[in-house]
Amino acid sequence: MLNMIQLMIVSIALFAVSTSSLEIDFVPNTFVIEFDRPIQSFASKRHVLSKRSLFYQQLEAYNISYEVRHEYEIINAVSIAFKSAHDSSLFFEKSLGVKKAWPVNTVSKPAVYQTKSQDSNDNVSSLFGLYNATGITRVRDELGITGQGIKVGIIDTGVDYMHPALGGCFGANCRVAYGYDFVGDDYMGDNAPSPDDDPRDTCNGHGTHVAGIIGARDTKLQFTGIAPDVTFGAYRIFGCSGSSSDDVIMKAMERAYLDGMDIINLSLGDVGWPESPASLLADELALKGMIVCAAAGNEGDKGIFEVGAPSLGKHALSIASVDNTHVLSHTIRLQNNLTLGYLTANGAVFNVSTARLTTSSDEFLADRDGCEPLKVNAMGKIVLMNRGGCMFSQKILNAQEAGAIGVIIYNNNPGPVTPSISDGKVSIDYGGISKADGYELFHYLRRNPNSDTVEFLKQDLSFPVPTAGSISAFSSWGLGPDLSLKPDISAPGGQIYSTYPVDMGSYATLSGTSMASPYVAGAVALLQESRGGNRAIGAQEVRTMLINNGHPFNVLHSESLESVARQGSGLIDVYHAVTSDTSVFPEQIRLNDAEHGAQNNEYTLTIKNNGRLASEYQISHVVASTAQGFKIKGTGSDVFPLKKPILLSHHEADAVVDILSSPVVLVPANEALNVTVRIAPPANAASMPPSIYSGYIAISKSQDNDGGGDVKYVPYAGLTTNLSQLPVLLVNSTTPRLLSQRINVFSPALLSLQLAEASPLLSVSVVNAADVSQNYGLIPGGYSRYVGRNSIDDPTDVLIMSWYGNVATSPEQASLGTFARHSRTQQEDVQQQDLLATAVNQHVSQIGTKLDKGVYKLKVMALKPFGNVENDQDYDI
Ligand SMILES: *[C@@H]1O[C@H](CO)[C@@H](O)[C@H](O)[C@H]1NC(C)=O
Ligand SMILES: *[C@@H]1O[C@H](CO)[C@@H](O)[C@H](O)[C@H]1NC(C)=O
Ligand SMILES: *[C@@H]1O[C@H](CO)[C@@H](O)[C@H](O)[C@H]1NC(C)=O
Ligand SMILES: *[C@@H]1O[C@H](CO)[C@@H](O)[C@H](O)[C@H]1NC(C)=O
Ligand SMILES: *[C@@H]1O[C@H](CO)[C@@H](O)[C@H](O)[C@H]1NC(C)=O
Ligand SMILES: *[C@@H]1O[C@H](CO)[C@@H](O)[C@H](O)[C@H]1NC(C)=O
Ligand SMILES: *[C@@H]1O[C@H](CO)[C@@H](O)[C@H](O)[C@H]1NC(C)=O
Ligand SMILES: *[C@@H]1O[C@H](CO)[C@@H](O)[C@H](O)[C@H]1NC(C)=O
Ligand SMILES: *[C@@H]1O[C@H](CO)[C@@H](O)[C@H](O)[C@H]1NC(C)=O
Repeated sequence: MLNMIQLMIVSIALFAVSTSSLEIDFVPNTFVIEFDRPIQSFASKRHVLSKRSLFYQQLEAYNISYEVRHEYEIINAVSIAFKSAHDSSLFFEKSLGVKKAWPVNTVSKPAVYQTKSQDSNDNVSSLFGLYNATGITRVRDELGITGQGIKVGIIDTGVDYMHPALGGCFGANCRVAYGYDFVGDDYMGDNAPSPDDDPRDTCNGHGTHVAGIIGARDTKLQFTGIAPDVTFGAYRIFGCSGSSSDDVIMKAMERAYLDGMDIINLSLGDVGWPESPASLLADELALKGMIVCAAAGNEGDKGIFEVGAPSLGKHALSIASVDNTHVLSHTIRLQNNLTLGYLTANGAVFNVSTARLTTSSDEFLADRDGCEPLKVNAMGKIVLMNRGGCMFSQKILNAQEAGAIGVIIYNNNPGPVTPSISDGKVSIDYGGISKADGYELFHYLRRNPNSDTVEFLKQDLSFPVPTAGSISAFSSWGLGPDLSLKPDISAPGGQIYSTYPVDMGSYATLSGTSMASPYVAGAVALLQESRGGNRAIGAQEVRTMLINNGHPFNVLHSESLESVARQGSGLIDVYHAVTSDTSVFPEQIRLNDAEHGAQNNEYTLTIKNNGRLASEYQISHVVASTAQGFKIKGTGSDVFPLKKPILLSHHEADAVVDILSSPVVLVPANEALNVTVRIAPPANAASMPPSIYSGYIAISKSQDNDGGGDVKYVPYAGLTTNLSQLPVLLVNSTTPRLLSQRINVFSPALLSLQLAEASPLLSVSVVNAADVSQNYGLIPGGYSRYVGRNSIDDPTDVLIMSWYGNVATSPEQASLGTFARHSRTQQEDVQQQDLLATAVNQHVSQIGTKLDKGVYKLKVMALKPFGNVENDQDYDI
């Protein structure tokens, strides 16, 4: 399909427009510059340094103004900030013998969802209920392994080492023995960092929470993290608020390696590619024995193919999240001693300690409950209402006007609700409870009209989580954009209680794949100690041990296993990872699509028996849910990604699996044996909407004295459709489009577009309006590698490029510019005008050469995954 946009250049704007408040993915004029020769091939470090200073001399000779941000020691690269677009332009015009220049990406802080809790003196042991299922309890109690001698690097917001559970000090002989602050409090991601030696976290809390998950030793509340004897390194890459950038993160990763960290845990960016420099460095460090655990991402509501970098690194572990069994909550106690948890928007408990409760309607789940002036006597009472029908503030104000002292709103959907309002007229307490608790409370009040006085406890109590042990709603879907099997494994990350900076309350409950990733980091510390420490087990072996021993789990309220694209190999089990004497390799089977699958769909697995006795193994197949990731619109040629993939459970949607070897094999002690399986796409793959089908090859040890628990699972997943058939660039009569078509003294042309899938290369060039085969070159900012996808249901989630009528002289020069990406977190009601005003990216006006006045068209090309850059057929144009 050809879809070009006609526009007219009237004259070229060189006019100051207010700078962008949209999210720009790159730090302007800043690059990681990689030199030709890898660092190992240099005779000495001194030689590398002299080559680099030669490079700086060249820059100076060309009068290019620059500042060195970082020099790397593990890879032969530096990060450089040029003073202006003109300076970076000059750099790309001169050929200075560099291998590659990567624009430096900004990296947003991982999202977390916080449930504020009071400083509870309640017994918090229930909050660590999954320690049994994940084998932590047994490893510590039966094997006595606690992470002793293992160093874990935390690349994050710093760590509040003053917290007693984290040692109370920083430096040699402290729990936090290593660390550095690469950025300072005021760093936001696009301003200059101000590093110092002190990585203490006093203003954010994220890194302190992560440290506690990995290895808190809390004597006050009597809980411990996964590996309470590890030593920490705290590498601070986020200021108090805002983002970071990948060159800073690379420096922190390198420092962690040089400090001797065995494991690091980090999560960068939203959607990524294994080819980003940070992913490449993560892989490099993994090959040197440092284990990288990274969060899969919190984009669970965006549909498939949303796993974040660098968890996409081949050797990194990408961690999905499951919900915890218990959570602390503010508590209402009824006279029959029944307790219910409630949530408030500001995190505070209700001021009253006892109050009378009434319902505003005599019907449970009443329509528009509380939306009209109340008919019941609410004077001096707290009113229980159903959610829905009008704004929270209207319900609460109606109660307030009737003399109520508070409102509790129960959810009309499963799960909890936290009513949040911004109406200054509300002066009474308000909070929310789940639908199930609403049902209990409503009927209690109807049954016991004379026991309507309830208690609001000052301390939080622990409550069971209804979604315990299933995938967290926020946990991102895989697969990788290249159909690699990501995420790798799951760990508890929903409703996790841990340490928090002392100045911020000392404890907090947070949710996010950011909480699951350190759980695995702690588990890897236990694995390393079990093998003697000192990076004894390499990245590949750790991957195999963990993935082999995962426990696949079901979709909530279902008999079907959750898709491999969401859970990887299931819930982590450290005990079996440490003690098992069987391993299966490869640890995952990547089926790709029909164009990139194995010959005859046959795959070989090697079963290694590390035990002292011969073992018999049974090989079987366990199917997991097939996830329909796209819907087909109209005639069938338009396919669109679904925000909520549809789980298909009929057999025609499952892979067709045959165990080609004997289903029972005997493997002698200390030997390996190969088995072959055939995994073919679902029978009706051709007629299905594009879907990810998945499952596990299970290898069970027959004579097992461990209660039959020793089963290895090898996950597989593939795409029913050829990846090349899925749209990358969204093309219809309204998009891509020009938001302004005339380039004049006041404004550039603004090009808006959406990607339905991540693209390895997005380019925009200028062509003759009359003869589109005549190409004038790329627009500055119109050449970007590895661009993540948009949420195409959201018309404000777009990429916007500014064009001032100039063209770049090379792709490298074009890649100096960038586009604005509308932030997904901004509120929905962004006006088109606001978009226009904020999207202008003025620095691109200084790149390249100007075209004559005239009428031109823009040609937008998005390369498909696996596509060949040289082949026009592999682009959406
Ligand atoms: C170098 O650049 C500066 C401004 O950045 C300018 O003032 C100076 O004249 C330039 N020198 C040469 C030799 O081009
Ligand atoms: C907390 O509860 C657990 C189990 O309910 C119990 O084993 C433990 O001793 C309790 N701890 C304290 C400090 O009460
Ligand atoms: C965990 O296992 C221990 C025994 O190892 C047991 O005492 C405890 O009750 C279990 N906890 C949970 C939450 O199942
Ligand atoms: C662990 O990874 C998650 C993601 O940031 C990140 O949020 C968390 O901060 C990382 N943990 C560590 C250990 O650095
Ligand atoms: C509620 O608990 C209190 C104290 O534990 C006890 O005295 C009382 O009998 C209980 N009431 C009911 C209705 O169970
Ligand atoms: C609750 O008490 C606090 C502290 O006394 C006060 O600031 C707040 O306004 C009160 N809230 C309500 C809803 O009465
Ligand atoms: C996918 O690609 C393969 C190999 O090129 C081809 O044989 C097959 O017909 C394609 N499938 C579809 C559904 O187009
Ligand atoms: C088992 O398979 C692997 C990988 O395909 C191969 O390298 C190895 O030689 C095979 N071993 C045997 C004993 O066939
Ligand atoms: C083009 O696609 C977008 C995103 O799905 C949609 O909002 C818009 O209505 C489409 N336009 C037309 C003309 O179909």
